[in-house]
Amino acid sequence: MLDLGTVLETVIDSAVEGTVVVDANGIVVFLNKAYEDILDIKREDAIGKHVTEVIDFTRLHVVIRTGIPEIGEIQQIKGRNMIVQRLPILKNDRVIAGVGKVIFRNEEEVQDIIHKLETKVKYYESELKNLFEAKYRFNDILTCSPKMTELKKLAEKVACTNATILIRGESGVGKELFAHAIHKASPRASGPFVRLNCAAIPENLFEAELFGYEGGAFTDAKKSGKIGKFELASGGTIFLDEIGDMPLALQAKTLRSLQEKEIERVGGIRPRKIDIRIIAATNQNLEDMIARNKFREDLYFRLNVVSLAIPPLRERKEDIPLLVGRYLEKSCRDYGSPLKTVQPETMAQLQSYHWPGNIRELQNTVEKMVNLAEDNVLKPADIPKNIRGEHAAFEPFEQKLKNRTADTEKELLSSALSATKGNKKKTALLLGINRSTLYDKLKKYGLRYHH
Ligand SMILES: Nc1ncnc2c1ncn2[C@@H]1O[C@H](COP(=O)(O)OP(=O)(O)O)[C@@H](O)[C@H]1O
Ligand SMILES: [Mg+2]
Repeated sequence: MLDLGTVLETVIDSAVEGTVVVDANGIVVFLNKAYEDILDIKREDAIGKHVTEVIDFTRLHVVIRTGIPEIGEIQQIKGRNMIVQRLPILKNDRVIAGVGKVIFRNEEEVQDIIHKLETKVKYYESELKNLFEAKYRFNDILTCSPKMTELKKLAEKVACTNATILIRGESGVGKELFAHAIHKASPRASGPFVRLNCAAIPENLFEAELFGYEGGAFTDAKKSGKIGKFELASGGTIFLDEIGDMPLALQAKTLRSLQEKEIERVGGIRPRKIDIRIIAATNQNLEDMIARNKFREDLYFRLNVVSLAIPPLRERKEDIPLLVGRYLEKSCRDYGSPLKTVQPETMAQLQSYHWPGNIRELQNTVEKMVNLAEDNVLKPADIPKNIRGEHAAFEPFEQKLKNRTADTEKELLSSALSATKGNKKKTALLLGINRSTLYDKLKKYGLRYHH
């Protein structure tokens, strides 16, 4: 039969932590080898004495009286600070003994562990920073269009402030690129850049993702809780991409956080301060969404402090050769093929296409052409069919006509809007169209009604 008593005594005796046991009166009944070493006494000399006679600054006699454990306390023993723990041993609600333990013999030992942990934490922090670091600068935004150059200037100017920015524009025009560049050029550049794509999060996970949760907040929650994106971005910038897809209920909570500059974790009891800069982006017409009660007007006003509207590629066709050149270079380098060039006729056709997917589509198209073309000079026939289109030859004229009509219509709308100072009801009256038609047209031309 295993003699458990002997086994336990051996375990305790060979432990590196000093261990002392006292009875309910504070008389020492056991002292292990490690504690003998620490105190530099023999066990026989300690046993039978009151603990205060044996150990400096002990509080074990207090613990057996109060019944309250003391964990991780600093105690001076033999002139050195040690980390100790004192536990009452209870039986039927009565203290029958007390155990004192020296967990670390000196602060250096603790410092050592703290140092190890700190190294690890620092490593994770830097890894995390990589993960949440802005990748692009203003120099990466290629353009030779006057409109875009102006926009870049404006963005660079507001980057230095803490102002909230709303970036608008069709998909693939470079909204995210701008957000990165703004962060990089801001005083927060060394802080994190955290992106949250509001269109990619299931509604039921949204709140936890954004605000985090406390351990045990709900059944599937991690024990340790979770930091939300708002908290992660503290000291830096949060980029709320596709903000138009944020659920209404979350819009209210988000607005509150932005105003109070603090967040409340799910299941949390007290708010936490956050220090963030917000950049939001959308390709949706928020004004229209407000009119249809799909977006909160108050959040819209809070976000739309500075508005950057990035024009679609078809409105800055002068950028097409520049971008084609850059992506040709990049694709050829990536595929290890010699540098390819495009025939003027090919470029002309690329410039006459309307690029609904904007720069992202252009990027993919050039990559495809580099991949498929046999020759080093890209001919019109190398342009993917869907882009050449069956009516490619007629497109320039048709397109021109459409553009002219659209330009005129847009001008009329703009001047009516400024005449009425953005009042939609008056604008509709003035133009002799009904309000929903007006909304459709404002949406179509990306016109803002707050001027
Ligand atoms: N002016 C530009 N110069 C160079 N690359 C650009 C430019 N605008 C966009 N891009 C590239 O096009 C792609 C789409 O840009 P992105 O910022 O993701 O667009 P959005 O967020 O508006 O959908 C990215 O690969 C981006 O690097
Ligand atoms: Mg995007």
